[in-house]
Amino acid sequence: MTQDELKKQVAAAALKYLKDVPIIGMGTGSTVTHLINQLADCDFKHDIEAAVSSSIKTTEHLQSIGIKVLELNQTGDLEVYIDGADEVTPHKKMLKGGGGALTREKIIAGASKKFVCIVDETKCVDVLGKFPLPVEVLPLSRSFVARQLVKLGGQPELRINKETGQPYITDNGCEILDVHNMTILNPVEMEQAINNIPGVITNGLFAMRDADVVLVGKGSEVISY
Ligand code: A5P
Repeated sequence: MTQDELKKQVAAAALKYLKDVPIIGMGTGSTVTHLINQLADCDFKHDIEAAVSSSIKTTEHLQSIGIKVLELNQTGDLEVYIDGADEVTPHKKMLKGGGGALTREKIIAGASKKFVCIVDETKCVDVLGKFPLPVEVLPLSRSFVARQLVKLGGQPELRINKETGQPYITDNGCEILDVHNMTILNPVEMEQAINNIPGVITNGLFAMRDADVVLVGKGSEVISY
């Protein structure tokens, strides 16, 4: 199976977590795109009252299949949030934000009772950090934050929008530093340390609020833990 087929397969396995959930939390990325496409054709779609979305892209996709999107301020805590990840460990700690939606993803994950992480097997790692760690920053703090990230052992690089050649701007009007060469042996401590740098909006470590269920598309099957 190709990586995309594995993503499609794990997305299909995640559908059951949305059954009988009135307001669903939806992440961002290509795996979630498959999930929304499959939700469009599933028999319980009309039972879903609304969704809370982690990005403009996901909002537009959900609306295109007829699902109403609410702000998190309009709902209470959510039953379920489903999202992909760039890396996930056997302890369900994740590195996310390759798609740039990390801040809203972390907020909705924090407001959800169950986080279901959906990945293909290439995302499974023992130690986080091979994938560059995204850190969303206020633009005016970018250089200062970058120097602090170097002190933590990383090599930050400003994310560039490939289409414009300009700095990538998030849905929140901020910039992203992708931190290379981090070997993250203590993800909770590293998440806190990066959060403590003034000017950081969010970092892509989901270690304090980790996943409750991880579904992995692996070969011809989906395993869960
Ligand atoms: C979006 O900001 C990310 O956190 C995604 O959830 C993550 O990058 C996984 O994306 P794919 O499903 O496209 O691999």
